[in-house]
Amino acid sequence: MSKRRVAILISGRGSNMAALIEAAAEDGFPADIAVVIANTASAGGLAIAQRSGIETLVIESKPFGKDRAGFEAVLQAALDARGIELICLGGFMRLFTADFVNHWYGRMLNIHPSLLPSFPGLDPHGQALRAGVKISGATVHFVIAETDAGPIVIQGAVPVHDDDTADTLADRVLAIEHRIYPRALQMVASGQTRFEGDLCRSTSSGPHDQALIVPSEN
Ligand code: GAR
Repeated sequence: MSKRRVAILISGRGSNMAALIEAAAEDGFPADIAVVIANTASAGGLAIAQRSGIETLVIESKPFGKDRAGFEAVLQAALDARGIELICLGGFMRLFTADFVNHWYGRMLNIHPSLLPSFPGLDPHGQALRAGVKISGATVHFVIAETDAGPIVIQGAVPVHDDDTADTLADRVLAIEHRIYPRALQMVASGQTRFEGDLCRSTSSGPHDQALIVPSEN
């Protein structure tokens, strides 16, 4: 089966991008990372992608100001020119118009460091700590017009410790992000996901008998 051509969009350090690139380098992975696109030349992830031999592109969003459609026209042309079939957002900090999102519906993934629908938006770890939740995690979902919402492909959970700071919780969640994003891309690219209304279902759910109880019983 031919591999799906993927663009990863980043704004920053690109650790999720790196996890996707590493996974896609494995034999038999159903997706090829064709290009990494950043909306700012200062995105640290660009150098990582270049070292991996992946094409990189910077489309500065700042000069477009509030003209989202103008930025997206340039982005769309770059995606079309490369025959991109799937987009993975990896810490891409720019909102899209509903038109762009609808065009890519079912073909654009995002990762967010909380168990959505809890704690969307900024400072998810601070939100989790202020809410006193005992379990947090990360979510990969298809992108819809609403920010940090959309059909959920996969989630990973981690315990929240009483002495956590936003930084220590972020580190624990990030390790899970790097595990679930490649898995989500593998599932979507190989056709193991389908939509039932607004929900995403998959043919590849593992054992259901693992419970995470926090604080633990012993
Ligand atoms: C990740 O934690 C990702 O989940 C988050 O930004 C970080 C990017 O890190 N995304 C969001 O908060 C989206 N709302 P990375 O550049 O190292 O992948």
